[in-house]
Amino acid sequence: MSMTDAYGTTGNAAVTAETGPRRLATSIRDLTKDYVLKSETVRALRGVSFDVPEGDYVAIMGPSGSGKSTLLNLLGCLDKPTSGSLLLGDDDIAKMSDDELAEIRSRRIGFVFQSYNLIQQLSVVENIQVPLYYQGRLGSNERKRAVDLAERVGLGDRLDHRPAQLSGGQQQRVAIARSLVNDPFFVLADEPTGNLDSATTDEILAIFDALNGEGRTIILVTHEDDVAERAKRIVRLKDGMLHTDEPISEDRRIAAREAQRVAVAEMLARE
Ligand SMILES: Nc1ncnc2c1ncn2[C@@H]1O[C@H](COP(=O)(O)OP(=O)(O)OP(=O)(O)O)[C@@H](O)[C@H]1O
Ligand SMILES: [Mg+2]
Repeated sequence: MSMTDAYGTTGNAAVTAETGPRRLATSIRDLTKDYVLKSETVRALRGVSFDVPEGDYVAIMGPSGSGKSTLLNLLGCLDKPTSGSLLLGDDDIAKMSDDELAEIRSRRIGFVFQSYNLIQQLSVVENIQVPLYYQGRLGSNERKRAVDLAERVGLGDRLDHRPAQLSGGQQQRVAIARSLVNDPFFVLADEPTGNLDSATTDEILAIFDALNGEGRTIILVTHEDDVAERAKRIVRLKDGMLHTDEPISEDRRIAAREAQRVAVAEMLARE
């Protein structure tokens, strides 16, 4: 007797999962974004298309003004496209109301920013729970989840510290834990290591490596080649369009990790 699995197909679910097409975390088609100002219209994205399978790790690069943050804002449901489609699961965010966008943003998107964006008055555990406050979820299960995530990013002994009592790298760990608390479609990171030295950058990238190894989808914007080379794929934008979309071989990723290790060792030797 055949069984129907969660995706509505029949047969052996395990075989289907292994041999079927990978599910997409997001699918973008002909995406455009215009910013309409008084005197002119800025065409920030001019028809971008690509897919991100679940479990992918994408670095978005490109010159200043090429549309990277605009694209990340659309992926994060912070803004709506002018035209085109952007699917999250089965939902097209281009067709959503502002309320629906806010809802999906708070429930299913994880953000990590260059400047951490933590709330100074709150402890580590409380900061990690912030996305849940907006959903009115404050029970002991949620606290336990936040403590687990703090431990996961190596802050189990800093649960009651405030952001000002933490180093930059520790603050970014809190932000990463916060980004995971609502089990997001993907983690979006805009220049997450932009404020960090090479040793701390390496620590943060090691956390991303581990999360991606567990199947988390990561999309990050960076200006730094050695950060981008740690991803599985580099998407380059130019003038609001997709310029190149290049997979990174496992050998290249290993070389990037090794180069980072050497840079850290050199930095520590100078101190
Ligand atoms: N809110 C806005 N209103 C008007 N124009 C905007 C707005 N945000 C971005 N732009 C314009 O859209 C274009 C793309 O900007 P975007 O911030 O996406 O670039 P970026 O690739 O992230 O650059 P950077 O590397 O400097 O962060 C730029 O020309 C920018 O001036
Ligand atoms: Mg930007």
